[in-house]
Amino acid sequence: MPAPSSQPFCASSIIGTGSYMPEKVLTNEDLSKIVDTSDEWITSRTGIKERRIAAPEQATSDLASEAARRAMASAGVAPEEIQLIIVATVTADMFFPSTACFVQKKIGAVNAVCFDISAACSGFLYALQVARHFINTGNRTTALVIGAEKLSSLINWKDRNTCVLFGDGAGAVVIRRADESVEAPGRVLSTVMGTDGTLADVLKVPGGGSACPITPENVESHPNTIHMEGRETFKHAVTRMLEASQQALEIAGLTAADVSLVIPHQANARIISAIAERLNLPLDRVFMNLDKYGNTSAATIPVALDEANKAGRLQKGDVVLLVAFGGGFTWASSVVRW
Ligand code: UT7
Repeated sequence: MPAPSSQPFCASSIIGTGSYMPEKVLTNEDLSKIVDTSDEWITSRTGIKERRIAAPEQATSDLASEAARRAMASAGVAPEEIQLIIVATVTADMFFPSTACFVQKKIGAVNAVCFDISAACSGFLYALQVARHFINTGNRTTALVIGAEKLSSLINWKDRNTCVLFGDGAGAVVIRRADESVEAPGRVLSTVMGTDGTLADVLKVPGGGSACPITPENVESHPNTIHMEGRETFKHAVTRMLEASQQALEIAGLTAADVSLVIPHQANARIISAIAERLNLPLDRVFMNLDKYGNTSAATIPVALDEANKAGRLQKGDVVLLVAFGGGFTWASSVVRW
């Protein structure tokens, strides 16, 4: 398949990262008390040991705003300098206004244009690419790109197939136009994106939207929770993430051998290992934190990027490969020169 979006861009650089994870920890052991599962099953099939659960009064915009504040502090950027806020989420505070509008209000980014992107677990990389387009056209110079989810609000706690997989959290980056002649750190070198809507029913929240509003008659069947055909999703995730990684590297004029660190979507350690193996990369060049947080959908990559950054795992000049896959199906990959 040809690379779908390969034009060279005016430079955009990630100049700050931040994340926020709710305090409450839900362990595999805790889950084994509410559904027929075990730490052994969850750990061996997914790699997940625990996940974070937001407090009832915390909305997605609260998690997003805290991650955004931390990203702005790390970038040394004031809220007034932010000209664009994109929140990638499938757990918006409400149908409208967008979660990004609430974030704007909470962080005081009065000069920003704000909207959300719905691309499930690929949402953060989709949002990053949209922000790059704004920067490329000269329309905006400084943007906040956020991946934030309160997936606990979409969980059927009686469904062991899904309730063990997901968690809450938020990650954010500040990106800024960079002088192309300068080797600015954090430069996004390439991004590829793809979608296959013929498989939209494999991973979805079927109810609560216009196709299937929640009614007293259907509420008992939990239509407003995550439904997933796990094995089918797994298969496509490996194929698409591998393909997207190779395309993004090719566009950047690089190969897997040049990659210092892969930051993949954190859904399943077996998916991540399969991709690393096919890229011929040792696991010490692959970042994983899903044991602590589970799958936080659009938040996994910016949270992991922030943790890798804070842990000193991103050194100047490093090639960082970001790659995601999610409902839609959607997938995306970006290469960043740190
Ligand atoms: O973020 C978007 C992308 N998402 C993904 O990429 C997720 C992709 N899928 C997966 O990660 C895996 O498919 C799962 C972790 C969801 C499931 O793992 P699996 O190895 O594919 O298991 P399975 O669905 O084939 O189920 C195997 C067995 C079934 O029992 P039977 O039918 O063989 O008797 C399930 O009922 O495991 C059972 N099972 C469980 N057992 C204990 C399913 N969930 C659980 C559970 N605890 N939590």
